[in-house]
Amino acid sequence: MKKKPNFWKSLRFRIMMILIFLGIVPSVIAARMVVTSYQTQAMENQIANLRTQCDILCNLLIKENYMNDSSSPAINGKLELLSNIYSGRILLVDRDFKIIKDTFRIDEGRTLLSSDVLKCFKGESEAIYTRKNNILELVIPVSSPEVKQLQGVMLFTVNSNEIIRTAQQMEQRALVIIGFIAILTIIVAYLTAAGLMKPFARVTKSIEDLTDGYHEGEISVSDYTETELITDAFNKLLSRMKVLDESRQEFVSNVSHELKTPMTSMKVLADSLVGQSGVPEELYQEFLQDITAEIDRENKIITDLLSLVKMDKKVAGMHIVHQNINELLEEILKRLKPIANQRMIKLYLESFRTVEADIDEVKLTLAISNLVENGIKYNVDEGWVRVTLDADHQYFYVTVADSGMGIPEDSLERIFERFYRVDKSHSREIGGTGLGLSITRSTIAMHHGTVSVISKEGEGTTFSVRIPLSYIP
Ligand SMILES: Nc1ncnc2c1ncn2[C@@H]1O[C@H](COP(=O)(O)OP(=O)(O)OP(=O)(O)O)[C@@H](O)[C@H]1O
Ligand SMILES: [Mg+2]
Repeated sequence: MKKKPNFWKSLRFRIMMILIFLGIVPSVIAARMVVTSYQTQAMENQIANLRTQCDILCNLLIKENYMNDSSSPAINGKLELLSNIYSGRILLVDRDFKIIKDTFRIDEGRTLLSSDVLKCFKGESEAIYTRKNNILELVIPVSSPEVKQLQGVMLFTVNSNEIIRTAQQMEQRALVIIGFIAILTIIVAYLTAAGLMKPFARVTKSIEDLTDGYHEGEISVSDYTETELITDAFNKLLSRMKVLDESRQEFVSNVSHELKTPMTSMKVLADSLVGQSGVPEELYQEFLQDITAEIDRENKIITDLLSLVKMDKKVAGMHIVHQNINELLEEILKRLKPIANQRMIKLYLESFRTVEADIDEVKLTLAISNLVENGIKYNVDEGWVRVTLDADHQYFYVTVADSGMGIPEDSLERIFERFYRVDKSHSREIGGTGLGLSITRSTIAMHHGTVSVISKEGEGTTFSVRIPLSYIP
């Protein structure tokens, strides 16, 4: 079943979020800034206006001597008018701190001793502005430049409700605009993100089509460098898988073929015995010997296959021991000497130093034996096989060289493949399964080592093995 993609975790969603953020946040900040700067500016203007009005009024108060006689109807009218215009309240305090005029007519005749008023009388400040909530309060000394003496103090309280209300209206309008921008940004972000992600969707679709078998071969989405890299990597993986699949198929057909051949021989031999009557005993003997040989061969193939499978599955655990390699090689050569002697082939062992290493004795013996055995098998009569051992501080090196028939250049690459034999008929006569070298390579790989080969047809072959002295699992 297809997995449903998680939208919240998708790159598309993240791109969308970034675009929305970039669209909305700046407009919110801009709107906030406009409203605040309007408010500050409006307040400053209000103060400046008030100040001018108050200065004019103060001059008039001095001129008309209002602080001593507050009965002037003209000035009273002006005071009322001014406080009405600004929807504020004007208080005039004389030198005895008595309120001689209150445009609200509440506190007239009372004494006012606020700190701002005292400050003004002391001459500490020219004018004081205080803002509490929406109320602006100005405290201004009533004096004239000519008569240096202070006649009183004027208190003008005004509320800034108008400014605040306008700012709030502006804010509401800004909110509506931001809402529009937000909706627009979301739509644009959604479409842009979808557009940007399209090539990636195409990559997925191509891979899915390939999996479902709609089309064969490679995929290519070259819209972005990234998609190109992904498809290239995918194609590489695909071709590797194809190679693996081919080699698996070849392996299976090889196995069946190899297992069938001894069976066919046995059947032919047995049939010929069954089909004849009065067969002489010598013939029976001979045929049965042949049948036994075929059974041995079948057995060897199965045993080799099993050890290869085991190594593939890595179930064959490594039994690492610290071992003298010189002795190990001597032991191998001693065991193979009788076979070499049959064809008068000489075996030499050349050790440049004493080498001790962490190895799996059974597996390494098998690997090196296969090499030496090949050296003997594919040699000329009275030839030689030379095994050398050397080491440095990190690896030990074993070479197996022979004076044999050599391997043609085009086969060199393939001799490590399972069942590969250079000359099938000849090898069969010599009696191999073609599994020896693949077992050798697998076991050496399990030791984290390498094996390579150089060869010249008609002159001989040299296998070189390199294995680390200490085993790291
Ligand atoms: N030293 C060598 N000289 C020449 N040819 C070699 C040598 N070693 C290997 N070969 C070639 O490589 C082929 C593969 O070798 P490998 O050891 O895998 O299989 P085999 O010897 O045929 O069978 P097995 O080792 O399983 O009994 C051999 O059949 C042979 O043709
Ligand atoms: Mg072999």
